[in-house]
Amino acid sequence: MVREVFSSIHRRYDLLNRLFSLRRDVAWRRFAAGKMHFFRAHRLLDVATGTGDLAIETARLHRNIGVVGVDFVRPMMEMALMKLSRHRLSQRVLIVQADALNLPFPDDHFDVVGIAFGIRNISERSAALAEMMRVAVPGGQVMVLEMHFPKSPFFSWFYRTYFVLVLPRAARFFSRNPAAYHYLADSIADFPTPKAFVDTMQATGLIGIETYALSFGITHLYVGLKPEKAAEGTGAETRLGRR
Ligand SMILES: C[S@@+](CC[C@H](N)C(=O)[O-])C[C@H]1O[C@@H](n2cnc3c(N)ncnc32)[C@H](O)[C@@H]1O
Repeated sequence: MVREVFSSIHRRYDLLNRLFSLRRDVAWRRFAAGKMHFFRAHRLLDVATGTGDLAIETARLHRNIGVVGVDFVRPMMEMALMKLSRHRLSQRVLIVQADALNLPFPDDHFDVVGIAFGIRNISERSAALAEMMRVAVPGGQVMVLEMHFPKSPFFSWFYRTYFVLVLPRAARFFSRNPAAYHYLADSIADFPTPKAFVDTMQATGLIGIETYALSFGITHLYVGLKPEKAAEGTGAETRLGRR
C-alpha cells in the first residue's frame, strides 16, 4: 500500500510538500543537516530518501562526505536522480533501491543514518530503528525527522482544520490520487507522541537521545547515538550523552 501511494504521487510530491508545509519542510531538513557530525567514515545514509531532499541538503552543507539514499519506490528514486543531476551531485550521492528493514550495507558503516518523514510509513518502527543503528558507526547518530499533531490547543485546532478541510480539497485539485493524501494525513495523526517515540528509540538501544521541537512542535527532530562497543555498560551512556 505504501509503495502504491508513493508511486502515484511522485511527480507532485515536492510541490505538495512545500505547499502543505508552507515551505517549512526545507528548513526542517536544513536544521537536521546542521546537527549532523561526520567524524569517522564521512558517510551519510538517508533512509526512505524519496525524492532525495535530505540527501541533497546534507551533501550541500557538508562538502567532504559521501551520501547514500535508499528507497523502495522506483518512481520516487527516479525523481531523486533527476534532482541530483540538476544539483551536480550525482558523483557524491548514490541512490539505491532497498527496504529500510533490510539495508544492504555492512555494520558500522555510516557516521549518520537519517530518515525524514519516512518512519511513520513503516509499521515495524523498532525494527527499522534497529537496522539503522546496525549500519551506524559506534558513536554515530541515528536521526529521525517526523511530523506530529501539535499539543497546544490553538495549533492543534488549526492543524486539524487544515488537514480536514484544506488539505483534502487541495489534494483533489492537484492529484489524481487524493486518497494518498488522506493516507498521509492519517499517518501523521496515528504517529506516537514525542515521549512515546523517544521510549521506542531508547528500547532499541540508542542512547543520549536529544529531541528538538520545530515550528511549534509540528515536526520533531530526534537524535540518538549508537553506543560505543568497547565501552558498553561502562558509562558510555553518560560520556556520549554530553557530546
Ligand atoms: C513521505 S516520503 C519522505 C521522503 C523524503 N525522505 C523526504 O524528506 O521528503 C516517504 C518515503 O519513504 C519510502 N518508504 C516507506 N517505507 C519504506 C521502506 N520500508 N523502505 C524503503 N523506503 C520506504 C517511500 O517510498 C517514500 O519515498
